[in-house]
Amino acid sequence: MTLSGKRILLVIGGGIAAYKSLDLIRRLRERGASVRCILTAGAQEFITPLAAAAISGQRAHTNLFDREDEADIGHIKLARDADLVVVAPATANLMAKMAGGHADDLASTVLLATTLPILIAPAMNVRMWQHAATQRNLATLTSDGIKVVGPNDGAMAEAEFGPGRMSEPLEIVAAIETLLTPKGALAGRHVLITAGPTHEPIDPVRYIANRSSGKQGYAIARAAAEAGARVTLVAGPTALPDPAGVNVVHVESARDMLAAVEKTLPADIGIFTAAVADWRVASAAGEKMKKMGDVPPALALVENPDILATIAHRTVERPAIVVGFAAETEKVIEHAQQKLSRKRADVIVANDVSAESGVMGGDNNTVHLVSASGVETWPTLDKGEVARRLVERLAHMIETRKS
Ligand code: C5P
Repeated sequence: MTLSGKRILLVIGGGIAAYKSLDLIRRLRERGASVRCILTAGAQEFITPLAAAAISGQRAHTNLFDREDEADIGHIKLARDADLVVVAPATANLMAKMAGGHADDLASTVLLATTLPILIAPAMNVRMWQHAATQRNLATLTSDGIKVVGPNDGAMAEAEFGPGRMSEPLEIVAAIETLLTPKGALAGRHVLITAGPTHEPIDPVRYIANRSSGKQGYAIARAAAEAGARVTLVAGPTALPDPAGVNVVHVESARDMLAAVEKTLPADIGIFTAAVADWRVASAAGEKMKKMGDVPPALALVENPDILATIAHRTVERPAIVVGFAAETEKVIEHAQQKLSRKRADVIVANDVSAESGVMGGDNNTVHLVSASGVETWPTLDKGEVARRLVERLAHMIETRKS
């Protein structure tokens, strides 16, 4: 029972390979998975919702505007209540809709609304598969983090030969098993990361911010997800796209960030890379402030909560490893050591952010790992590599702590 307890949402597209999807349902159920089906209008030209329902043991969904369907489960719930979404067969049209973000029927709407991992099994005529548009869509979907199985080479319905045949049900099952079996150094761990700047409102149109790009935190989120962790990224305003496979919670101010972080607990590892504003305006104006005479307004500031210190000082649900960052322009290591003890972090990743270093907004970083066991200086690396090394190190730390 390799898929025991796993919930698969199977989107069946309109192609001749749809008949294989019925066998796929059976194979998945044999392995302990439950399968809920959505059939596109095209799919219903090849197989019936009744057949899908009979084999899956659950009613099959077909219509976005079906009153009974919406009352029963609703498309948003459909998009959430599963461990994995599988699209088989994924037709050229479905792939194009997914790549373009279309939502004009139940299948495409659910595919746009879901944050679950998605696996597609393309199936189409060889020329459609090889068409530049399909290949472009495939590249988009892959870079969006969507996983692909197949297609295989072989004889096609139109007596043609080449790539375009949908993978066999057992090949799709194997791909599903691979996706749903946690692997990697952080498999089964929950990692919480803060990133980016915060915006502290002055009035409805003005705010206090800083130059943090969020790049390092996002890179760590990506690396932790690649290492098999479940990752929650609490991000202040950045220009970066959400990393694939990461649950991103967008916030604005330090207080929102703290609330979101607390809601995310428990976590095994907390990594606090956000450049949280130290101060906020004591009372932000409800209306846009007006220029009045020659005297500029004085902004009274109050201190923001220290998110890292608040979490590290918790007695319940404190992550086993708390990592802080220290962006310094002088006495980098000395200041990091002070932060380590004052904030009660387990590791401080210290770096020089003076203008000459080019770290702020740049792609490279030179960091020092400061912990109770000493200081370790890494060579200058790009932020992705810093992230991978840090994740590797933290995985090792948590592993050795457990035993
Ligand atoms: O004190 P400083 O801002 O240099 O500390 C940096 C570390 O503390 C970072 O890990 C940062 O994310 C965290 N921090 C925080 N909340 C604050 C200030 C800093 O989480 N209000």
